[in-house]
Amino acid sequence: MALRVGVIGGGQLARMMIAPAVELGLELRVLAEDEGMSAGLAATAVGDYRDLEAVRAFAADVDVVTFDHEHVPQSVLRALVADGVVVHPGPDALQFAQDKLVMRARLAELGVPQPEWAAVRSVAELQEFLDAHAGAGVVKTPRGGYDGKGVRVVRAAEEAQDWLDALADDDALLVEELVPFVRELAQQVARRPHGEMVAYPVVETVQRDGVCAGGHRARTGRRRTSRAGRGRDRPHDRRRPRRHGHARRRALRDRG
Ligand SMILES: Nc1ncnc2c1ncn2[C@@H]1O[C@H](COP(=O)(O)OP(=O)(O)OP(=O)(O)O)[C@@H](O)[C@H]1O
Ligand SMILES: [Mg+2]
Repeated sequence: MALRVGVIGGGQLARMMIAPAVELGLELRVLAEDEGMSAGLAATAVGDYRDLEAVRAFAADVDVVTFDHEHVPQSVLRALVADGVVVHPGPDALQFAQDKLVMRARLAELGVPQPEWAAVRSVAELQEFLDAHAGAGVVKTPRGGYDGKGVRVVRAAEEAQDWLDALADDDALLVEELVPFVRELAQQVARRPHGEMVAYPVVETVQRDGVCAGGHRARTGRRRTSRAGRGRDRPHDRRRPRRHGHARRRALRDRG
């Protein structure tokens, strides 16, 4: 019998798994949020990914559970694991994609270079951070954001007043220094349960209004003398980003 892979979430990433699953001889099942989602072709159930019983019923008929998005609550994931369901990535790994404050704290522990950041709970705390960082910062809601939703560049703490007001008692916002970056790079690394790893090529992504508008394989740092001779001395001058076709861009916007 084919291995049955259950994907929670019926967005475009689940849809992208359909063709490779067929090629690999896997049976793909999708728990979609609604009828007519991107991955409708493979949707075998419709239900709320926050509802433990809905997720449990879906997981009962598959061999392994994975995700289209990172928003399934930790409580649901941990209950599945306690039930004996195989979940990849597991809750201990997924938490770093779910909560940007948890991610920043872990990267700090590991000594990985990152922008200066802080957890802030009030206008006064946020303003203090802005004052210490040239009067600007990027404020983020730690959970639930995607495609730039939950990300705001601010130059005064009051610009995040609505998010501060909405904070639950033990919650905080993340604020980061505004990084004058030259290029934005992304890389996928995958690991099989038995440890085999594969690193996919580094991709340079282009964001417009917080939404990924395209990307191309990143070029390495080596500079050709002929180009340097033409005065192209900044990395972003080297080449205009190549854009994906219309359908791909729309798919990226249609995330969720
Ligand atoms: N500290 C920063 N300085 C400058 N630009 C930033 C900073 N943080 C984020 N940005 C810009 O905002 C975009 C969105 O931010 P971020 O990647 O944190 O959120 P997201 O893409 O919505 O969430 P996730 O990447 O977790 O799915 C980034 O791709 C980058 O272009
Ligand atoms: Mg991002």
